[in-house]
Amino acid sequence: MRLGVLGSGKGSNFVAIADGIVAGRVPAEVVLVASDVPDAGILAHARERGIPAVYLPPGKFRTKLDEEAEVALIAALETARVDLVVLAGYMRILKGELLRRFEGRVVNIHPSLLPSFPGLAAWKQALDYGVKITGCTVHLVDQGIDTGPIIAQRAVPVLDGDTPATLHERVQSAERELYPAVVAAWARGEIRVRGRATVGFAG
Ligand code: GAR
Repeated sequence: MRLGVLGSGKGSNFVAIADGIVAGRVPAEVVLVASDVPDAGILAHARERGIPAVYLPPGKFRTKLDEEAEVALIAALETARVDLVVLAGYMRILKGELLRRFEGRVVNIHPSLLPSFPGLAAWKQALDYGVKITGCTVHLVDQGIDTGPIIAQRAVPVLDGDTPATLHERVQSAERELYPAVVAAWARGEIRVRGRATVGFAG
């Protein structure tokens, strides 16, 4: 299975998936890494591993891609013959044409137990709200923001004395276990989508 990974940040989820592939736990290949941030860590991590990595300028908007940028991203993913688009800290909202072309084949990881705390800095939202358990969610991407069918979740406790930074690190550590396991299950053809529900993720 050919993965196209999109990210805007440091790339720890990408590294976890790439390491899982090298270790033989994830039967897939990353054929492209793309970022909307020119100096994103994820691009450097990809280049260190010899994986094609491109900066694709997002265009004139702050939170989404403009039409030209979306066309360029679709072209890059299609040229690389990507089977599954893996969002790993990609901070642009994807709508429209890209989701149509890759319908049912775009997954995202979000740092909370959805549907709680969609949007930005979800671990901080959880801490501010005062929940005792939060976590991370891997889900299919649909037209909404963090609303697509949930594939897998991991719970993470909120501890007394947590700061946004300590909680974020605990959530990210769970992400680094969950995301490669979900991609592996997807690559093995184990995950099935039935309307809003998905089945088949045992890990
Ligand atoms: C991850 O924690 C991911 O859950 C979050 O960005 C981080 C990227 O870290 N994504 C979102 O908040 C999307 N709404 P990474 O670059 O180290 O993988």
